[in-house]
Amino acid sequence: MSRPDLILRGGEVIDGSGGPRRRADVAVTGDRITAVGDLGALGADSEIDCTGLVVTPGFIDVHTHDDRYLLEEPLMPAKASQGVTTVVVGNCGSSLAPYTRPDLPKTASAMLDDPRWRFPTAGQYFEALDAGRPALNAAVLVGHRSLRFNCMDDLERPATAAEITLMRSQLREALDAGAIGMSTGLFYPGAQKATTEEVAEIASEMRADDGVYTAHIRDEGDRLLESIEEAAEIGRRAGVQVILSHHKAAGRTNFGKTAQSLPLIDKLRKSQRLGFDVYPYVASSTALLPGIVDRAERVHITWCKGRPEFANRDLDEVARELGGLSRAETAKAVIPAGAIYFTMDEADVSRVVAHPQSMIGSDGIPWDAFPHPRLWGTFPRVLGRYARDRGLLSLESAVHKMTGLPAGEFGLKDRGLVREGAFADLVVFDAGTVGDSATFEAPKQPAAGIARVMVNGETIWSDGASTGARPGRPLRLQTATTRGTAG
Ligand code: ZN
Ligand code: CU
Repeated sequence: MSRPDLILRGGEVIDGSGGPRRRADVAVTGDRITAVGDLGALGADSEIDCTGLVVTPGFIDVHTHDDRYLLEEPLMPAKASQGVTTVVVGNCGSSLAPYTRPDLPKTASAMLDDPRWRFPTAGQYFEALDAGRPALNAAVLVGHRSLRFNCMDDLERPATAAEITLMRSQLREALDAGAIGMSTGLFYPGAQKATTEEVAEIASEMRADDGVYTAHIRDEGDRLLESIEEAAEIGRRAGVQVILSHHKAAGRTNFGKTAQSLPLIDKLRKSQRLGFDVYPYVASSTALLPGIVDRAERVHITWCKGRPEFANRDLDEVARELGGLSRAETAKAVIPAGAIYFTMDEADVSRVVAHPQSMIGSDGIPWDAFPHPRLWGTFPRVLGRYARDRGLLSLESAVHKMTGLPAGEFGLKDRGLVREGAFADLVVFDAGTVGDSATFEAPKQPAAGIARVMVNGETIWSDGASTGARPGRPLRLQTATTRGTAG
């Protein structure tokens, strides 16, 4: 073979397939892996000694809200520092594109609050990604709530047939531009009145393209099982693959319910394509919503527009300061704001993380002043705390959940595996020390143990810092006609 640009020499390769690690050298030329094995005396323009370290595919963060982060902070340190090389954006029903209305409904995500970062078409968002050259690769989902904002004058009812047609045409434009699917957040105001029928009809636009449907389901608490059934039904009616987002059982009265939800998912998977992801924490995070504050054990404010001094404070403390208001009254008084909700049981989180088919998605919120630590810690936490320290799963299985498994489920061609011909998205880490450093008290901390991160053959992170390289690419949908070709 011809002389490669680079050889990662002497590491233990965990190739992302779920198979066992083996000692191997990895050769890279241009943006591709050109050889894996004992490369002996073969020389390269540069060599990196990986003795004592593990070499894996770059991690795929399947559930993110990095739509704006890709453009505003293209080095993306929160993700690069963890070994993430690809992010899937546009989740929970919210995307920056397509967005065609001049104003912003009250129920919109704070991600959309800057008009400079809203795009009338997905094509324009892709152009911005091409021009912005972020460090990471990105796959793009269209948010169903964004479609509703564009096409409906009243969000507090199901869409009419004419509105569904309009939403389908916007989704069509996005799929043709390269979006890989659509997300919903039926839990959220602005989408709650959407019926199963409405979503199934819109999602069926993706059938021919084999797009993905990702679901922040209607209810992750008391009606968890029914809500999973609804998402599965949407997938069957639309003829598309379903991904259940951030799978959990929320609220004390629902602790233990993943012992029922996981068997339900296993059963559904026998007759339809359905996957799910999880983040490894007992707290969730989203906007501060007065309607849900009482379900949490504890609520922590992550940002607050009107009263920035309330960020990083406990809601109960703020409630006392405001003269003994209830949690809900306090929330109403200080919104718009964001919050962390302690609503889960560790046994449920562990059960979902350990399930062989769960993928890992951070659900991190990059615009928060004091973000949930999942933004900086998710992937190393699974590798360190869940795999190594607690032995809940093998390192090979943990890596598979972050690489080969999601690449397959999301149709990311030639990603997620260390093998000849694949893109050179790679992570080199120390299996003995890898771990999350971000905490609820100090959430913006790069992980420990991540030695080097490469995207498309270029190193974006090493020695605890961004290198400045920005080799990421938008990963466009492989349509029926382009599937099977490189790209
Ligand atoms: Zn969500
Ligand atoms: Cu989300």
